[in-house]
Amino acid sequence: MIREKHTSTLLNRKKEPLSKTKTTFICQHCGIESAKWQGKCPSCNSWNTFVEEIVQKETKKENWQDESSSGKTVRSKKLNEISDSETKRILTKDHELNRVLGGGIVEGSVILVAGEPGIGKSTLFLQACLELDGITTLYISGEESLQQIKMRADRLNVSNDDFFLLNSTETQVIFTEIKRIKPDLVVIDSIQTLETSHIESAPGSVSQVRECTAEIVRFAKTTNTPVFIIGHITKEGSIAGPKVLEHMVDTVLQFEGDRHYAYRILRTTKNRFGNGNELGIYEMSERGLRQITNPSEILISQKNEALSGIAIAATMEGARPLLIETQALVTHAVYGTPQRTVNGFDLRRLQLLLAVLEKRGGFHFGVKDVFLNMAGGIKVEDPAIDLAIISALLSSYEDKPLPTSVCFVGEVGLSGEVRAVSRIEQRIAEAEKLGFEKIVVSKFNQKSISLKSRIQIQFVSTIEEVYRMMF
Ligand code: TYD
Ligand code: MG
Repeated sequence: MIREKHTSTLLNRKKEPLSKTKTTFICQHCGIESAKWQGKCPSCNSWNTFVEEIVQKETKKENWQDESSSGKTVRSKKLNEISDSETKRILTKDHELNRVLGGGIVEGSVILVAGEPGIGKSTLFLQACLELDGITTLYISGEESLQQIKMRADRLNVSNDDFFLLNSTETQVIFTEIKRIKPDLVVIDSIQTLETSHIESAPGSVSQVRECTAEIVRFAKTTNTPVFIIGHITKEGSIAGPKVLEHMVDTVLQFEGDRHYAYRILRTTKNRFGNGNELGIYEMSERGLRQITNPSEILISQKNEALSGIAIAATMEGARPLLIETQALVTHAVYGTPQRTVNGFDLRRLQLLLAVLEKRGGFHFGVKDVFLNMAGGIKVEDPAIDLAIISALLSSYEDKPLPTSVCFVGEVGLSGEVRAVSRIEQRIAEAEKLGFEKIVVSKFNQKSISLKSRIQIQFVSTIEEVYRMMF
């Protein structure tokens, strides 16, 4: 049956028999459905996010599957009859990408890569796929023309005979081409441009994005082909139905970075096949993305000259230790309300730490402007960075520099106690490797340290102790 292609005007739709089209209101933020329009989403509390979308469920048919195979009976299997597909991974030349994925691309997995426009998602995957040896890749671009991609590939200066490009936005066309080429890896750039004929709403709307992703997931699982799905996020950090997509895919990667810096971070936020919080660091150069193999060295900007307000933290991102410089500036507040400005750190966490310093240490931060910055524009989530931030704040408050050969690790509690952190030995080893002479650690970590090291380990239990020791 040939169905008429509709524009999304409601007038057109009214002529259709009622049973065929179904519209529903979908929150563009969290993907929740509602029978009628609502001003405020009852699920995610955002305002004005409900949009009417047309969903058509009756005439559904798989695009990528023949009718003949759809009547197949499916049997359950015993667990030990199932072959171990975990072991089959495609290793790329990009070690950061391999690590973030938990050791390469798992066959049949669907990986969502989210990031702001212009951050370098297309560059990253073009580069990674072009460098693959003996793997047929199909790169589907709905955003850029083939010439544009070719120009970019020339700029990256890599070529590959097994690399296919397709410029299309219709899933039907895409699956036909996939059947012809039989690629080992598929990249979709981006999910917001795709549209399936089963759904009548515009590309990029929640129901389109969800249906296209569902088709891709079914394709990946049936053919055991890994698929990367690139998705844009807005400045507020949401893509159309991000929560909906996150649970449909196996792995979610976040590609982020400050546009003013060259550094880009690829972060795992969900991974069914590996560690859920890995991190890869790249530098955007004239010729594509360059992997940063020893990030600690670039995250510590100056090591010889002692300046006040600077402290080095021994943090962990996933399974990798990362030494990072925290910078604080504490000045007398000239305007009425003191300012708190952060870059790469949670503002509320800073306010909490300032309150602890005020109450437990008697420091009057209430009349000071406080600025906090993480070197390199990196966003740190590890709570073990607290002690370094406290030290940087105190150093700037007193205007006395800390010795450059010291680094800090520890979480700070509400009563001013320095709490134990995980993987302490790895952090100490990294600090030692980078030539630090002393590391300040929580006393409660003492028992878990058995390694012999040249670096001096100073145990503290409260922030007062840190203050007395340093100033
Ligand atoms: P792009 O991959 O198009 O971003 P996205 O797909 O996330 O929207 O990246 C575009 C940016 O990267 C653009 O600002 C130019 C920059 N770039 C370089 O600096 N060097 C390069 O070699 C390439 C290919 C891009
Ligand atoms: Mg792009």
